[in-house]
Amino acid sequence: MAAKKKVLIMGGAGMFAYDMCRIISANESFEPVPFDLPRLDITNHLAVCDCVSSLKPFGVINTVGPLVDPCEDDPEMAERINVKAVANLAAACKKVKARFVHLSSCGLFGDEKKAYRETDPVVLKTVYARTKYEGELAAQEAYDQSIIVRPGWMYGATVNHKKNFVAARVREAQKKPVMQSASDKFGSPTWTGNAAAAVMQLMLSSGLRGVFNLANTGSGSRADYVRCIVEAAGLPTKVLEVDSSAFSRKSPVPDCEILDNSKLNKVLTRPMPDWREAVRKYVGEEIKL
Ligand SMILES: NC(=O)c1ccc[n+]([C@@H]2O[C@H](COP(=O)([O-])OP(=O)(O)OC[C@H]3O[C@@H](n4cnc5c(N)ncnc54)[C@H](OP(=O)(O)O)[C@@H]3O)[C@@H](O)[C@H]2O)c1
Repeated sequence: MAAKKKVLIMGGAGMFAYDMCRIISANESFEPVPFDLPRLDITNHLAVCDCVSSLKPFGVINTVGPLVDPCEDDPEMAERINVKAVANLAAACKKVKARFVHLSSCGLFGDEKKAYRETDPVVLKTVYARTKYEGELAAQEAYDQSIIVRPGWMYGATVNHKKNFVAARVREAQKKPVMQSASDKFGSPTWTGNAAAAVMQLMLSSGLRGVFNLANTGSGSRADYVRCIVEAAGLPTKVLEVDSSAFSRKSPVPDCEILDNSKLNKVLTRPMPDWREAVRKYVGEEIKL
């Protein structure tokens, strides 16, 4: 049997990476090779170049990305991880002609409530947004075959992943008769299982490059999202809609992070499922009460 083609996953212990590894493993021609701290720090340029040039992978997927508030607190760290490390990774992939997929963000726009397309002008309100966008440009400049994906509001992997919003809200609803949630922040909730399957297709479509929104279909407010989770879990908790000022946030995150996924859907064999269906399926299959 021919040797399996390697796909390196940077940030390989993370939430999206978990489902990406699962999807790659399901294809008998490919093998996921996850790297995370402390084994490989993506800001160590030499170590990253050595790793990519010695393993000569079919593809490299970069899932590393700090949260919004840590970027605001430490812009130099944000620049190092979101821009410089991404440019270095892209250049390393170019040398061995590996496919390069980089995860950017849905949070690159402003407050106008609409579904944003890949070509819409960015409104960079935070250090996170600015460096994520600069990372997109740096990747494309270093390697014009780079594929940039902009994920929606992601949840998924196992219930223990610290970024799993759905599992966290179910745990909260189990303890509280009433939960508060913002009615003035909008986005496209996205299951990492669907997102990873879509990334696999993008990576395998030869010649594809550029920016793709990566989200389940449709949109809602945070409160709609939380209500959907609570209902899917069959819990009696009431979701009280409040203004986002009820939650103190250091960073001026945009009001609207809704993504139009029609460019992605044209490439996929089946369109991305509706976000509510995806939440119900995930809660039904993964969350044991
Ligand atoms: N989750 C969302 O809703 C969402 C929305 C939009 C965009 N995104 C983007 O999508 C990507 C994946 O998100 P995710 O939620 O799956 O992230 P995640 O769970 O935080 O996974 C990232 C992994 O990278 C590791 N890491 C941190 N710094 C590293 C470094 N210098 N070198 C190597 N590994 C490092 C993290 O370790 P530690 O946990 O120890 O730090 C973590 O295991 C990120 O780029 C994120 O910005 C996510």
